[in-house]
This record gives sequence, C-alpha cells and structure tokens, in this order.
Amino acid sequence: MSAKPTVRPSPIKKAAIKVAKKAPAKTECVIVREDPPPVRVITEPVTPKRKGINPDSLRFIDLFCGIGGFRIAFEKAGGKCVFSSDYDKFSQQTYKANFGELPHGDINQVDVADIPSHDILCAGFPCQPFSIAGVSKKNSLGRLHGFDDVKQGNLFFSIADILDHHRPSAFVLENVKNLKGHDKGRTFTVIKDTLETILGYTIYTKIIDARTVVPQHRERIFIVGFREKRDFEFPVFPEQGPLLGSILESRPDAKYTLTDHLWNYLQNYAAKHKAAGNGFGFGLVSKKDTTRTLSARYHKDGSEILIAQNGKNPRRLTPRECARLMGYPDDYKLVVSDTQAYRQFGNSVVVPVVERIAKAVMATLNRPVDEKLNLVLRDEKRIEGVGQTSSSLAPVTKYPAKKRTRTKK
Ligand SMILES: C[S@@+](CC[C@H](N)C(=O)[O-])C[C@H]1O[C@@H](n2cnc3c(N)ncnc32)[C@H](O)[C@@H]1O
Repeated sequence: MSAKPTVRPSPIKKAAIKVAKKAPAKTECVIVREDPPPVRVITEPVTPKRKGINPDSLRFIDLFCGIGGFRIAFEKAGGKCVFSSDYDKFSQQTYKANFGELPHGDINQVDVADIPSHDILCAGFPCQPFSIAGVSKKNSLGRLHGFDDVKQGNLFFSIADILDHHRPSAFVLENVKNLKGHDKGRTFTVIKDTLETILGYTIYTKIIDARTVVPQHRERIFIVGFREKRDFEFPVFPEQGPLLGSILESRPDAKYTLTDHLWNYLQNYAAKHKAAGNGFGFGLVSKKDTTRTLSARYHKDGSEILIAQNGKNPRRLTPRECARLMGYPDDYKLVVSDTQAYRQFGNSVVVPVVERIAKAVMATLNRPVDEKLNLVLRDEKRIEGVGQTSSSLAPVTKYPAKKRTRTKK
C-alpha cells in the first residue's frame, strides 16, 4: 500500500453509534433491533411519479476501485463512470493504463461534495475489523467504546457518508463471504442497520460463487441497495461453469514452474499438516478442474493454485491466466510487476459476476418505480436525531464547506 488512510470523522458513523446505543442493553449484540422503528403509514405516494432510467445514461462511481473490475462490468452493462478512487499506487497505474484515468487517492481525503452526482455507487470495500472485536464483554461502556473504535478507520462509513450526501438510486457493495459472520454477526448488523435504518435504502444480499462463470471457486457477498423500494432479483447463474483448461496459456514462461526447493518445501509442509489432521496444503489442479480462490497472497508461493505439468514440477498461474480466472478480457493491459499483478487480481472481483448484477440493477432502475411499494415512508418517527427516510432524499448530515486535499489527476 502506498499510503495509510487518514480517518475523517463520519457523521453516519455517529448516527450508527446512536442506533447502537438504542439497542436493548441486555442483548449480547449491541446493535440488534428487535422491532422496526415506528412508522406512520400515509396514503399518498412519497416517490414522485418518475419514468425508468435509461441505462445508457446511468452514471456510476467506482470506490476502492482497485484495477477496475466493477468498472468493466458496469461499462459493459451500459453505465458511465464519473469518479474513481483507490490509494494504492500500483493499482492506480493499472487503472490508468486501462481506463486512461488516474483514480483519486485516499477516499477519506476527498470532500464528499466534490464527488459528482451519480445513479449507482459501486464499492468492493476492504473489510477491516470493526473495533468491537477484542473489547472486553465485561466492560459495558467498553461496548460502545469498542464500537466507536472499530469504526475509526472503517471504510464502510466512507461509503455511508457518500450515500447520505448524494442519495444515488442504487448501490452495489462486494465483500468477502464471511462478512456476515464477522464478529458474531455484529459487523453485518451495523452495516445493515446503517444502510436500512439510517440511510433508508432497501437492501438485497446474496453470496455468489463465481465458479459458474469462471473456473474458480470464489464466494463473495453482494449487497445491492435501492433508494426507492423496488422489486429486485439477483441474476440466475448457470449450473455449470467452464474448466481450468479454457483459461490456460499454451506456452507459459518457464519461470512459472516451481523450483525443486519450493516444491519440496510445499510437499513437506502439506505432509506435516496432514499428519496433524489439518487440511492445509497446496491446491494441485489440472485442466479439467476448478481452482481454489485466488488470493492477494498468491505471489508468495502460489500454493493455493498449482497447475500439474507432465514430467515437471507444477507451475503457478501466469498473471494473464489470473486475469482470465477473474473474468478480465484478454485486451486488459498488465503493466505492473508479477507480484503486484497477482495482488491486484487476488483482490479484485470476478467481472462476469458483477456484469450480471450490473445488468440486473440497471434493468430494475429502468422500470418505473412501483408507487404502491413506496407508500410507507414519510413522517417516520425514527430514533431521535438519527433517522432519515428515503422519502426526503436530503442528507442526514451537513458537510463542512472546507475542502480536503485530493489526489491530483
Ligand atoms: C478489495 S480491493 C477492491 C478491488 C476492486 N474491486 C477491483 O475490482 O479491483 C480494496 C481496495 O481498496 C483500496 N483502499 C483501501 N483503503 C482505501 C482508502 N482509504 N482510500 C481509497 N482506496 C482504499 C485498496 O488499495 C484496494 O485496492
């Protein structure tokens, strides 16, 4: 990483803490809300009658953009990217080479008001532990303190602040599968409460395994949200996906074949762990297989995905094969070292998975809002000083006029 993020005080974080404080004191999980906030039902529609949005004119922003997996997918679906941000200088290089645009840096350094208005917010955000973890359960004050600590630097709140300010029609967030189970479910509850209760979005979540579109087992959670209530369904994926042989290069450079030293080390390591009853080991695959999940640490020893070779030690995937394993097109430019390229693809999204979601989101936005679904939202009595209905479409918070530094293009 080229820089450490600075932490901007997040107004939405403050609101989330208020929600947490309202949680029943006896519960283990601080932010569990048993009952929905009281809502006064009114009979007039809160959403002005509006036509669907033309997908060709849909504007999206690419947060924590990495090397642009979301961007390729949303552009293929017809969207137009109006802002990107990632503070990693190597990812910025790859992004610039492929999209002709240097992403803005640390999102905490960008004034929320400087981000252009957009219809869809996209973010594969880093899942940093919420600070609630590790705080002694005995310390009842510490519970909130820990909650507060965790969010210091938690980048989810950068997203929440942008949603609050710009009120895009929809968002698509991506994260590791175990986001739901992280910190005994508390992390996900904070995220869900923030998106639904504080920001007023309707959300849909699904864990999707990319193995039906690329030869890789890769499960990720997708959270799709809509400002207005809308019927949304995640796309249906094929039953069977392609096999590894379909993405392999015919003549990979000899440098990708493991040295005797590394291959012996990996075999001994695996044998030791097998004897101890652990499942750790390398993932040796052939053309007819599906690989394990490509991780950002693949550059270290490549052990999670090794390709069997006749009469030779196995080899790692080449960076181009990693690109294909993540569903990137072959004209995607690889401009950084192998180490950086492995890191970048291991951190990325599987493009055809996001493309299908992008198309489904755009199709949903393209349908006129069903007014019957949106009758309920005005004049809600939400938790005092916290609540925001999706009807008012104004930010919960006012942002300071002061501009923050941002990366020069
Ligand atoms: C999980 S990766 C997302 C990859 C991306 N979805 C893709 O398709 O390549 C998370 C990214 O967030 C970036 N990041 C982390 N903290 C950041 C911050 N404060 N501001 C901007 N980018 C940040 C990292 O550099 C990393 O590239």
